[in-house]
Amino acid sequence: MNVLFLSPGFPEEMKYFTHGFEHVGARVFGVGDTPRAGLDAYVKHNLADYLQIANWQDEQEVVRSVHAWVRGKTIDRVVCLWEPVMFLAAKLREALGVPGLSLEQSIPFRDKAAMKAVLAKAGLRTPRDARCTNASEVWAAAERIGYPLIIKPIAGAGSADTYRCDDKAALERAVQMTRHVPEVSVEEYIEGEELTYDTVCAGGRILFENVSWYRPKPLVARLNPWISPQSIALKNLDGPEVRVGCELGRKVIAALGFQDGMTHMEWFRTPKGEAVFGEIGGRAPGGRIVHAMNYSCDADLFAATAEAVCHGKISQNLAKRHNCAIVFKRAVGNGRIARYEGLENLLRRYGEHIPVVDLTPIGQTPRDPRQVVVGDGWIVARHPDLATTLEMADFIGTDLRVVAA
Ligand SMILES: Nc1ncnc2c1ncn2[C@@H]1O[C@H](COP(=O)(O)OP(=O)(O)OP(=O)(O)O)[C@@H](O)[C@H]1O
Ligand SMILES: [Mg+2]
Repeated sequence: MNVLFLSPGFPEEMKYFTHGFEHVGARVFGVGDTPRAGLDAYVKHNLADYLQIANWQDEQEVVRSVHAWVRGKTIDRVVCLWEPVMFLAAKLREALGVPGLSLEQSIPFRDKAAMKAVLAKAGLRTPRDARCTNASEVWAAAERIGYPLIIKPIAGAGSADTYRCDDKAALERAVQMTRHVPEVSVEEYIEGEELTYDTVCAGGRILFENVSWYRPKPLVARLNPWISPQSIALKNLDGPEVRVGCELGRKVIAALGFQDGMTHMEWFRTPKGEAVFGEIGGRAPGGRIVHAMNYSCDADLFAATAEAVCHGKISQNLAKRHNCAIVFKRAVGNGRIARYEGLENLLRRYGEHIPVVDLTPIGQTPRDPRQVVVGDGWIVARHPDLATTLEMADFIGTDLRVVAA
């Protein structure tokens, strides 16, 4: 089986997917804007061949050069697990006659207003919203929707340019700050917890489900650099407070007609226990959530996804054994990373439950958590008991410090 794999070098997680596809017997043909020499050795090892394209923006040119490059070979799958190139993937499928998500089916995964329109039509609970291209449309939308509200880019990522507005004064500021964004979504603000619903699908069937719980909400984490954000991949998806999200997620996947690969949905659980849709990507989650699934199941979801895409099934046992917390650290202080405070104590106390400690090395410059989700490192803590997992995650948040000086 020949797989055309878009952007094998970026984001970071893609390299593990290239291995997954290679592992299930596919020949992986990578296409990306990274020069061949700049590709990670691990990625290169997994690729049968690689085509460097000049830039992703010129989609017509990419389609033309890929078409010329693969001439004489049958391409069986076009795999895209990175959101910005989803449309390109659809265009390549069309040009090469490969089954999978079409351009029309991809639009609701990239355009937040189109996404919510399809789901509202299917009778699913989404925040009330309006798409706006100028300030007067924003003010009119705010009038209709009321406060608190959210203003965010129609095609956003990483909570960038996203603001909660509790009143007119806050909206006035947000309108100024989002002037460079061509199109925004103004939405009813949904109170409550925020969680994910992630799947691996084949032929539209859901073969694996994951729910991760963000602590705190990503927007709060982004705006408060002192917080060590957590996401907890939950072991038990059957409790009523999680099941509502899975039920919503299954309907969302059906309504959008997703076919093969990973999906990543975000949803809110209101104080009344209702599940409200947030957004969905037809791609793998970032923020090390796939790793969290792996540590939760003692399995390889990168390979499981590849098997689902190539062979329509998953043969690994994906039963969840642990709750798995991922905690991101952000350095405190100015200068270069000087020391880790509390690491020995942490490992003495919980070490047997902590399979990963990956912090920015001593001597390096701290990373900007608004640019790099992982910030100054990620730590994994897992346990079959949820309360114990949360206790460890909070301890990592408060008692481990990455200090710059
Ligand atoms: N209607 C809403 N009600 C409450 N909070 C919201 C709403 N919309 C967005 N948020 C907050 O803002 C964050 C970013 O919004 P959203 O997930 O839509 O955008 P994104 O930038 O595409 O995120 P991602 O990084 O997941 O791609 C959400 O995770 C949530 O915390
Ligand atoms: Mg989001």
